[in-house]
Amino acid sequence: MINMKTATLCLSLVFSMGISGGNAAIRVKNLGNENNFVYINTDKRYLLIPVEDSAPEGEIDFVYNNAKLSDYTQKIRMSRGKTDYYVPLDLSKFAKDSVIMIVRGVPSNSICWSDIKESDNFILDTEKFRPLYHHTPTYGWMNDPNGMFYKDGVYHLYFQYNPYGSVWGNMHWSHSTSTDLVNWKDEGVAIAPDAIGTIFSGSCVVDKNNTSGYGEGTVIAFYTSAKQTPWGDCQTQSMAYSLDNGKTFIKYENNPILTSSEKDFRDPKVFWYAPKEHWVMMLAVGQHMEIYSSKNLKDWKKESNFGEGQGCHGGVWECPDLVELPVEGTKDKKWVLICNINPGGPFGGSATQYFVGDFDGTTFTNNYPEETKWMDYGKDHYATVTWNNVPDGRCIAIGWMSNWQYANNVPTKQYRSANTIARDLSLYKKDESLFLKSEPCKEMVSARKDVRKIKSLNVAKTETISLSPQSDNGAYEMELSINPGKSKEVTFSLSNSNGDKVLMTYNVVSKTFVMDRTKSGEVSFSNDFAAKTEMPVGKSKELKLRLFVDKSSIEAFIDNGKYVMTNCVYPSVPYDIVTFENDGNRYKVNNINIYQIK
Ligand code: FRU
Repeated sequence: MINMKTATLCLSLVFSMGISGGNAAIRVKNLGNENNFVYINTDKRYLLIPVEDSAPEGEIDFVYNNAKLSDYTQKIRMSRGKTDYYVPLDLSKFAKDSVIMIVRGVPSNSICWSDIKESDNFILDTEKFRPLYHHTPTYGWMNDPNGMFYKDGVYHLYFQYNPYGSVWGNMHWSHSTSTDLVNWKDEGVAIAPDAIGTIFSGSCVVDKNNTSGYGEGTVIAFYTSAKQTPWGDCQTQSMAYSLDNGKTFIKYENNPILTSSEKDFRDPKVFWYAPKEHWVMMLAVGQHMEIYSSKNLKDWKKESNFGEGQGCHGGVWECPDLVELPVEGTKDKKWVLICNINPGGPFGGSATQYFVGDFDGTTFTNNYPEETKWMDYGKDHYATVTWNNVPDGRCIAIGWMSNWQYANNVPTKQYRSANTIARDLSLYKKDESLFLKSEPCKEMVSARKDVRKIKSLNVAKTETISLSPQSDNGAYEMELSINPGKSKEVTFSLSNSNGDKVLMTYNVVSKTFVMDRTKSGEVSFSNDFAAKTEMPVGKSKELKLRLFVDKSSIEAFIDNGKYVMTNCVYPSVPYDIVTFENDGNRYKVNNINIYQIK
């Protein structure tokens, strides 16, 4: 490392020429075209980089002693006309007296050159849509949940993450932990891009029997290394192991472990198949799944393909999972292949379909080849996968609560996207077919705070109930049972004093449930957002409903998860009124419980 004095001397020479901006510690030298050098010489903790979401991406390298500090060139939308927000760059890992940030593709008249600054603190903006009991990134962009595993009382959740802006790009795996699936702690970035590529979606396993040779109980991650080149996309599978329970990962020296000539080749999901004592990897490849096996997690053998002529093919298949689940009310178990698809969802864009069948360790057979089954009938449920190594026979899933149609445009600022609440999976039988049941995870019951109970409401005319105070912070659960009596249709809404409204209709004749968010609040950021989503519901005397509302999302669970619908909403203020409309026939709403959550 060069010493401070020499560095200062060099810098003063450099800054005597050309245009420079920023403050003394952060000196900018524009080269007259769109190339720039930023000299950083500060003891402060952070460099705060100004970002404008709509600006084109610039390319950034950090250079020390003439060499790049990372094999990966970051892409940052440094602000040109206005600064939307800042992203922090933690300087504590750099030699502060001599690091140069080389920025390409950002014009010299951009506003970022005067807005860039050093700071000891990074203060988050207040975001009125940030949910309170759903997992979100502290700042930056998030998509798919990745690599979830449970170990020693802790649930680990990684996720597709851009630390340099609130739109998709620079994919890293960031990491959060929780002991109750409701409160999450930010653990920071766990896997960063490298010379092979950025870090796309994947999974983790706990190698209990030391099959890989890294030690008993080592956490092993599998992800897609992805790189776009002028000659086409490179997607290959890579591996990394953690000797500190998932906090940091060491990349396997012989990566990638799997390559293919297919363009879309990604999202490895690995699990142990006990009867054959081998590992299985599911991969999404174009519009089918490929199944591989391995004894040591490093050498993989292709076993079979699944998908041709099965289910929906309106888009690319992504983020697979394969889990064995109990069938409610029987001693049977069946395998469920989870298949996320984008586009091609029932209401446009992304969604999660699944197949129920048999698996022998190498081949999956769909028992219902004629049917397309959807896991969730909302617009905002995607990339759903399950936790590895969860005790007590539980199979817990979580999904990304957004849709590729508009995920980059939703009206939040310094962060984008939340995950769904975690859901316990099982199977149930209906009309000679097996379906997936996604119940709110049982931890959601312990998360309940103050409750208001209304035993029974006889709806003979329009009835309005205030949800306050439980709804005051915008984070609550409402439970209710609708007994329609002679009504053919029961309509009720969540609304606020500004007239934002989400309409829900239970059609008794067609046995459907509809959620209409066309007037739910802010909808104008995308033509694909305002929508009505509809799902089939079974026939029963009473429709049992649990609605989870959390600032900017509504998750509706009917009959304890037999029918599920997840939709984002952006109301100007929290919905604090529920109104039951009357069509002339009396109906009853029983056991209304309104719980504050958090
Ligand atoms: C799904 C997906 C994955 C990919 C990741 C990239 O949303 O497209 O297939 O690995 O996002 O961020």
